[in-house]
Amino acid sequence: MQAHTPTGRTAGPGENVPRAMARLSGADWWRGAVGYEVYVRSFQDTDGNGVGDLAGVTKRLAYLAALGIDVVWLTPFFASPGFDHGYDVSDYLAVDPMLGTLDDWEQLSATAKQLGLRLFVDIVPNHTSSHHDWFRQAVADPTGPFRDYYVWADPTADGGPPNNWVSHFGGPAWTMDPGGSGQYYCHLFLPEQPDLNWANPKVMEEFAVILRTWCERGADGFRIDVAHGLTKDPELRDNPQLREVHGGMHPMDVFASFQHVHDLHRHETAVLFRQWRDAVADLGAVLVGEMDTRNVDRFAEYVKDQNALHAAFVLQVGLSDWEPETTITTMLEYQTKSNGGAAWEVSNHDQSRAVSRYGGGELGLRRTLALTSLMGAFDGMLFIYQGEELGLFDAEVVGNAEDPMSARNGEGMWSRDVARGPMPWSTDPHRSFTSAPVAWLDTKPLPFELTADYQTDSPHSTWQRYRQLVGLRKRYPALWQSPFELISQGVGHVTIGRDDLRIVANLTDEPIAASELDGADIIFQSASDAVSVVEGVTLVAAEATVVGRIAAPLVAVDVS
Ligand code: NOJ
Repeated sequence: MQAHTPTGRTAGPGENVPRAMARLSGADWWRGAVGYEVYVRSFQDTDGNGVGDLAGVTKRLAYLAALGIDVVWLTPFFASPGFDHGYDVSDYLAVDPMLGTLDDWEQLSATAKQLGLRLFVDIVPNHTSSHHDWFRQAVADPTGPFRDYYVWADPTADGGPPNNWVSHFGGPAWTMDPGGSGQYYCHLFLPEQPDLNWANPKVMEEFAVILRTWCERGADGFRIDVAHGLTKDPELRDNPQLREVHGGMHPMDVFASFQHVHDLHRHETAVLFRQWRDAVADLGAVLVGEMDTRNVDRFAEYVKDQNALHAAFVLQVGLSDWEPETTITTMLEYQTKSNGGAAWEVSNHDQSRAVSRYGGGELGLRRTLALTSLMGAFDGMLFIYQGEELGLFDAEVVGNAEDPMSARNGEGMWSRDVARGPMPWSTDPHRSFTSAPVAWLDTKPLPFELTADYQTDSPHSTWQRYRQLVGLRKRYPALWQSPFELISQGVGHVTIGRDDLRIVANLTDEPIAASELDGADIIFQSASDAVSVVEGVTLVAAEATVVGRIAAPLVAVDVS
């Protein structure tokens, strides 16, 4: 029998799942929230063009509600020529026709509200598309008002680029003005993604309108792309070079060969975000930045006083390989310094999926769950990337590479496509992502055990484990509301107290004794064998996290 969704349509695969928990309330709701990143292009196609769309997200919102998610981060769905799959925006206020319409957005927003879900729009302020009208006018008229919306500079004496900055996607971060002025424009990503000039107050004015418009259209907040970027050194000085670069290096390695003190991670950007905060304060929008810095103090500057960003992604941890000792130490440093302004994740659309990065197979999944469970006990938001709740590993791309990072740099370059494969919804051969013969990104079909339908129906699936994990913060608000107490820290393991809760994360490859859990009521374990008592000693198994409650009654969640 089929159920009916809140929109009155008949439910499809993965939709027959009830909303489990109430919506978080109050101005600080985001502090206890669990978010879910939807890579819109690969989530659900409804019009048969092989590309996921907004109507597809609406169709699957009940699935996310059933998982217990509080906020859905939607990757960019604005008008875009698609050189970087939406991160090159040609009109921030329009929906890309390939992904839907403004009516689809309204339907999505209304359905989210009915289900108690909030929506974060992914705003891209470091750069626009070269097809944006601002850039077209800047090129067409070097003396006109739009020229200064972008970063222009004269060549060096030999005619080369103004400095040694490199693009994330390969080559110099400078391209010659197509309008023939003889100047270069800056682009930290593709030449089709010219960087905006945030020293020009007009740019802030434009973005204040954009942010407010999306709030008025129902957005609850923003994921801010390249929030560690935006402002540039006014003198455009060279970045210090850390090591030699040579042809054939992966662009990410070339990029990492420089210290990005003049093009990224600048104090001025933290100051700028105070204006962002003011621009949407009356609308209650939450600002969460992408923050790819290795400097905890700089990170903290953006979030700790709560007058700039609300939170930022800790990519220093989220992008790492399996490094238990460093990970725990680093997480504790962010915990201490960032005043609850961390957003934790182990995967997103820009990196290899955690299951693959942490060793693959059962081991990779076990580690992913252990670390994610630990993150859920830290202050700050916790994000899950689409498909993580099914235990997905890196996709095998069978068609062409789509990611410009690899597609533009020759054969064999590592590609972000591995994390962007279509969601496997049902057990039918196309997994119900699209009715088109081939999806926009052609990947090897996943086993039926990894599909949403199979896992939502199976009592012991990975999905069920994630549902328990996601629900913990609502069942036990002490997990994010009570003071964070570091009870003990060892090499690769840590024990945290929050009121009557004890969280023991053992990321080592040996069991550890955990007397803090003696006699505790076990309320969550990241794996079915995570906790045992052997000869009177409580043990937490290798690569597992356990949450126990040592006493005291349940604290009720505020659902007003
Ligand atoms: C970070 C985004 O997550 C990534 O997908 C994009 O390519 C770059 N920013 C440039 O916008």
